[in-house]
Amino acid sequence: MDLQCFQITMQKGWALLEMARPDKLNVIDETVLTELETILQHFKEEQVKAVVVTGQGKAFAAGADVRAMADMDCQAAKQFSALGNRVFQAIEDHPAVFIAAVNGYALGGGCELALACDLRLASEQAAFGQPELNLGIIPGFGGTQRLPRIVGTAQAKEWIFTGKRFSAQEALGSGLVSRVLPPEQLLLAATELAEELAKKSGPILTLAKRAIAASGTGVSPSHGEQEANFFSKCLATEDGREGLRAFVDKRDPIFKDR
Ligand code: COA
Repeated sequence: MDLQCFQITMQKGWALLEMARPDKLNVIDETVLTELETILQHFKEEQVKAVVVTGQGKAFAAGADVRAMADMDCQAAKQFSALGNRVFQAIEDHPAVFIAAVNGYALGGGCELALACDLRLASEQAAFGQPELNLGIIPGFGGTQRLPRIVGTAQAKEWIFTGKRFSAQEALGSGLVSRVLPPEQLLLAATELAEELAKKSGPILTLAKRAIAASGTGVSPSHGEQEANFFSKCLATEDGREGLRAFVDKRDPIFKDR
């Protein structure tokens, strides 16, 4: 596989998947999502039982690529959101167990990638957030669906409406992550967990994942479609265009409520 955005290390029964554009803070664009979709298929074919997802450098992923979004019209925004929803849904539906090892910034789409994983471990240096509202848009890769399911509606609304960042300890307190570790121990802990899972029966692990999803905690493709519709509507507003443009221009946005 010829990959531009990821590095894969195959192990016995499990794989390490690193987002490998640290200079770009591992931002998520169309190329990232398309590569990820191919990688997920590859893991299926290889019958990988567990995958550790992490980011190289100081970010897990600093979100969807705002520069790319600033140039999108409604139709392109809908396609981008639908693509992100489809690929993250493929993680949720994947036979393997995904462990997010959140090493640093997990903002916007980066936080949503972690939410789509089955388990989340965080470094003490991790910082989470859904800052989309500050950009005049809403989360578009499943965040409006998965965050409330994981941390409860009230906490999810506070974080989505305010767009404020929250720490690994706050993430632990809300049940978003199951463990917080010193940075140098994060990957080791995630690796040990993946090794432990790789010793289980793959089909039974998958059945356990499916049974838990069937309990009502899972997201369905129609939820993703609805989110993509709402997301694209943001790009039809003046405030949506202003928020994204302001980020690119490195200034505060001036919202006019229209
Ligand atoms: N999309 C596009 N570019 C991004 C980005 C994103 N989501 N996040 C960071 N970048 C770019 C910055 O614009 C900057 O580019 P430049 O070097 O050409 O100016 C570069 O990555 C480094 O970011 P910088 O802000 O200088 O690093 P920092 O360490 O001071 O701050 C963050 C890191 C993650 C806190 C900050 O970049 C940030 O808030 N990013 C936006 C997060 C966000 O809103 N994500 C949700 C998007 S939906």
